[in-house]
Amino acid sequence: MADWWDADGRRHRKQFSNAPAAREHEHRETALAHAERASREMKLAARSSGGKKARAETNHGTNHGTMEPAKGKLGVMIPGMGAVATTFVAGVEAIRKGLAKPIGSLTQMGTVRLGKRTDGRSPKVKEFVPLAGLDDLVFTGWDIFEDNMYEAASNAGVLDYRLLEQLKPFLSSVKPRAAVFDHNYVKKIDGPNVKKGKTKMDLAEQLRDDMRDFKKTSGASRLITMWCGSTESYIEPTEAHQSVKAFEKAMRENDEMIAPSMIYAYASLMEGVPFANGAPNLTVDLPVMLELSRKNEAPICGKDFKTGQTLMKTVLAPAFKARLLGLSGWYSTNILGNRDGEVLDDPGSFKTKEESKLGVLEHILQPGLYPELYGNIFHKVRINYYPPRGDNKEGWDNIDIFGWLGYPMQIKVDFLCRDSILAAPIVLDLVLFLDLAKRCSELRGLGIQEWLSFYFKSPMTAPGLYPEHDLFIQLMKLKNTLRHLKGEELITHLGLEYYD
Ligand SMILES: NC(=O)c1ccc[n+]([C@@H]2O[C@H](COP(=O)([O-])OP(=O)(O)OC[C@H]3O[C@@H](n4cnc5c(N)ncnc54)[C@H](O)[C@@H]3O)[C@@H](O)[C@H]2O)c1
Repeated sequence: MADWWDADGRRHRKQFSNAPAAREHEHRETALAHAERASREMKLAARSSGGKKARAETNHGTNHGTMEPAKGKLGVMIPGMGAVATTFVAGVEAIRKGLAKPIGSLTQMGTVRLGKRTDGRSPKVKEFVPLAGLDDLVFTGWDIFEDNMYEAASNAGVLDYRLLEQLKPFLSSVKPRAAVFDHNYVKKIDGPNVKKGKTKMDLAEQLRDDMRDFKKTSGASRLITMWCGSTESYIEPTEAHQSVKAFEKAMRENDEMIAPSMIYAYASLMEGVPFANGAPNLTVDLPVMLELSRKNEAPICGKDFKTGQTLMKTVLAPAFKARLLGLSGWYSTNILGNRDGEVLDDPGSFKTKEESKLGVLEHILQPGLYPELYGNIFHKVRINYYPPRGDNKEGWDNIDIFGWLGYPMQIKVDFLCRDSILAAPIVLDLVLFLDLAKRCSELRGLGIQEWLSFYFKSPMTAPGLYPEHDLFIQLMKLKNTLRHLKGEELITHLGLEYYD
């Protein structure tokens, strides 16, 4: 009998009669665990809310469900046309024109190994699964400011002026639609390009009209919504978020616990359009959105792009755990001077971001399992708005670890990164993978796309399931999901067969 998992995703261990049997089992189990997890969790997610599409048995040679081809244009709709959104759209256009390379994008540059190491089969991701091509992407967006994408990109100051000049006609043609906005949720900014409506339901209807209009005018055959708007003030779920019925009633009553990002998400899911959340806001991380997503077969994922400091954290922390090095403290501080930094200077917005950044260590290090190593960690995250740096963030980490016999050591990381340069390829991959999920019979009814955890600081999971934060487990989960969908064998890294 192997280990088993209960309905809450907890693992139960088999008891072994002797140590060699236990070691033998452990050896096989670690290699297989990652591979099996992707399909098991998809099954779990489907089962936990009624399970209409669970066909996630471990596969060997069977195609799982159908994947419709990526025919026609894919319309990308972006609430929030700021630094990330413009760097992404400008980047796509620069790549299409042959002016730059899609560095950092798994869908464009990554490969998937298939079969044995000796088989020599490693197709590009974009050749392995039917993704939309970059030439088929068309864009629209909403913002509280009236700047078109060229003006917004120039203001964001991320991309070089000479590159932007070459893209000017295209970028100038993407103009923001009027936003659904509430200053109470983003205290540091205000702008003129905002929709008016008697109730939040009216505003949702206006957004749905925008979506239909964009689909018609752009000729897109499919749509996707990617939240790149500001971080909203911290809130916790209430009764209003527990079901579609309660949420719709609350929208008609202008319940203040319904944030603007939720209105975009509702509109999108009602239109059957997948929604990705790049900010740490609750947005789709709510029972109402899961219900809508599953009902309308509009996949969701989030939240908060994993770009700079948290990317480093989810690489280093697994290494400490792998080597059983203890951790006593991790102090992270950032300075950044873009508009995102300004918004995060407000305590309400910062709290939302802080929650998203803090969860990572606990889930990776599992203090419950390793109390002597990780039971007493001081973890602090700071973000300081410092205008001279613009989008070029500096993230410092001071890490206090301890080793053999408890001897202390320190690690210092100083990441001089570019926030939006790190975020843009994530946006591209999410757009293409969420569109794939929508075209894939096995994925589109699942709601949360946990296989996309790789891209998020605070990955969404099925209710009751803890998130996987380790970057390399996340990558394995993602690639094994692609293998699974195509009926290829999952890669376990067991490798004993090479020594038979
Ligand atoms: N850049 C990164 O590395 C990174 C990483 C993780 C998360 N994020 C998140 O991504 C989001 C975008 O980051 P950015 O650097 O582009 O910020 P930004 O401030 O440059 O852009 C956000 C834009 O959203 C607009 N906006 C705010 N509320 C809106 C609404 N309700 N409707 C429409 N537009 C609205 C603002 O006017 C602004 O133009 C932020 O929430 C940020 O926290 C960014």
